[in-house]
Amino acid sequence: MCGIVGYIGTKQAAPIILDGLSKLEYRGYDSAGMAIYDGGKINITKSVGRLKVLENLTHGGETMPGICGIGHTRWATHGVPSDTNAHPHFNADETITVVHNGIIENYLHLRQMLSDKGYKFVSETDTEVLAHLLDYYYKGNPMEAVTKVLHRVEGSYALGILFADCPDQIFAARKDSPLVVGQNGDGCFIASDVPAILKYTRKVYYVDNQEVVRLRADHMHFYSVDEEEMTKEPVTIEWDANAAEKAGYEHFMLKEMYEQPKTVTDTLLPRIKGRDIVIEELNMSDEELNAINKIHIVACGSAYHAGVTGKYVIEGLARIPVEVDLASEFRYRNPILEEGAMVIVISQSGETADTLAALRESKARGFKVLGIVNVVGSSIAREADNVMYTWAGPEIAVATTKAYSAQLVALYLLAMKFGRARGKIDDKTFASLLGDLKRLPNQIEMLLNNKLKIQKFANRYIGAKDVFFIGRGIDYAISLEGSLKLKEISYIHSEAYAAGELKHGTISLIEEGTLVAAVSTQPDLYAKTISNMVEVKARGAFVLAVTCEENKEIEKAADYVIYIPETNPYFTNSLAIIPLQLFGYYVAVGKGCDVDKPRNLAKSVTVE
Ligand code: M6R
Repeated sequence: MCGIVGYIGTKQAAPIILDGLSKLEYRGYDSAGMAIYDGGKINITKSVGRLKVLENLTHGGETMPGICGIGHTRWATHGVPSDTNAHPHFNADETITVVHNGIIENYLHLRQMLSDKGYKFVSETDTEVLAHLLDYYYKGNPMEAVTKVLHRVEGSYALGILFADCPDQIFAARKDSPLVVGQNGDGCFIASDVPAILKYTRKVYYVDNQEVVRLRADHMHFYSVDEEEMTKEPVTIEWDANAAEKAGYEHFMLKEMYEQPKTVTDTLLPRIKGRDIVIEELNMSDEELNAINKIHIVACGSAYHAGVTGKYVIEGLARIPVEVDLASEFRYRNPILEEGAMVIVISQSGETADTLAALRESKARGFKVLGIVNVVGSSIAREADNVMYTWAGPEIAVATTKAYSAQLVALYLLAMKFGRARGKIDDKTFASLLGDLKRLPNQIEMLLNNKLKIQKFANRYIGAKDVFFIGRGIDYAISLEGSLKLKEISYIHSEAYAAGELKHGTISLIEEGTLVAAVSTQPDLYAKTISNMVEVKARGAFVLAVTCEENKEIEKAADYVIYIPETNPYFTNSLAIIPLQLFGYYVAVGKGCDVDKPRNLAKSVTVE
């Protein structure tokens, strides 16, 4: 989604802002702009298109002098991507300017109110309302104007604001859209995400809902929306700054796929203690774990797909019923949460608006929420009652790979923990499961090393129109994710189906040569899936099978087979997904797509 960077200090602001915005490109955007105070007035340069356009227009920022400024990458919500709709937005006399992430829900009402008072709007955005509303309330005291505006607007926002009257200050505020601020010896920074300023400072402050920050070159002050000054503790970011660089890989997605063995190890190992699993973050005794009678898993996109796998694994190993919901549905369907239920939300970014809303809905009903989250200090991490971090490090490619793999193993750990506490897994089985868990990183690496075979196969499908993924049980969950990986980055239409469901309608779409990827990793379902493969083959499909080494029988029904190494059937997702990720990646590369920043998509979806 949109990105914000601001700087005030002793150095030229524009190059720093451009650099910061480049670190946020992965979030997805369609236009970019900067507002810099040049010592006399505020100048804005903005343009539709990639950041490169803004860099060229300003010669890398050089043509915009000034030591105080704000910048933005916009992902269009209200109004098409255009120069006019790009941020920053000005008030009429160009003395107040604002950049905004989020959505002002009552903007139509405010726009009407301001139009009635004679304000003229030039863009179609909700954000321009903020610039004029600030103007309306500004009577010489910027802080008063900012807080009055915050009391009037409904919706979500992270804001950066400049007043030409107060050129030694930047104002920042936030509600339901992430914002961090930081400081070093040269100045103070605002950003919508840590990577934008990590190069300059590791000590950041997470701005909370309805807080306002006043930044000067050498200090920052925090206020409540009622202008009461507050103190805040900084958080030190431990990431390796290089983790957010490509390190010689052609794309972040490829690099992140290759990081999966490490990610899985980092998520598993701190929680495997000898022959046991210890998840301190759960903060629950075995008695409490025993008392859980239902689990609700809520998430979006790939995190939801990890949740679907989690359902099969938790139900299988711990015998607790699990309901998995898309967060956007859960929050509005008045879900039935009964005593004894546990809510788990899963999110890489920790900022997904619908998942955050589902968390709040559950908490409002008195239920404790466990967050499985990757980004430390994110909104979900801070609002969940307990947090189990997936230690995947920064994930930059829009298409998730390593964070998804980490979510899977976090769910396996929980399933085993629950199963053990409830007496559903005997010692021998538990030990064998632990052994299989520990082997996963090496097995993932083996599969990654097989990339050439998959690249060759993928090259045959860069012209594909439709691809179908089928599987049963856990294999259906893998199919969901395999299909999403392909479609989101290659723009090839693709659907995942429970293998047995295909013949209830969708099989009519199979034509001569249609690629059907059949995932078959569950021994008790091998024969069933083979029957479904035969059905599609009889209608002309070309069948790619992803299966376990022992299942040689499948060669009779498949046109091409990719084998995964042996593991417990509950853990096969972690292995079968690797060739499917590689397949999606190489098809997209073959088609010349912008793999890391697919069209229309954003890395963290902070609007609903
Ligand atoms: O940050 P989150 O895990 O909450 O994001 C959820 C989805 O937006 C995300 O998984 C999305 O589906 C990815 N682009 C898939 O690759």
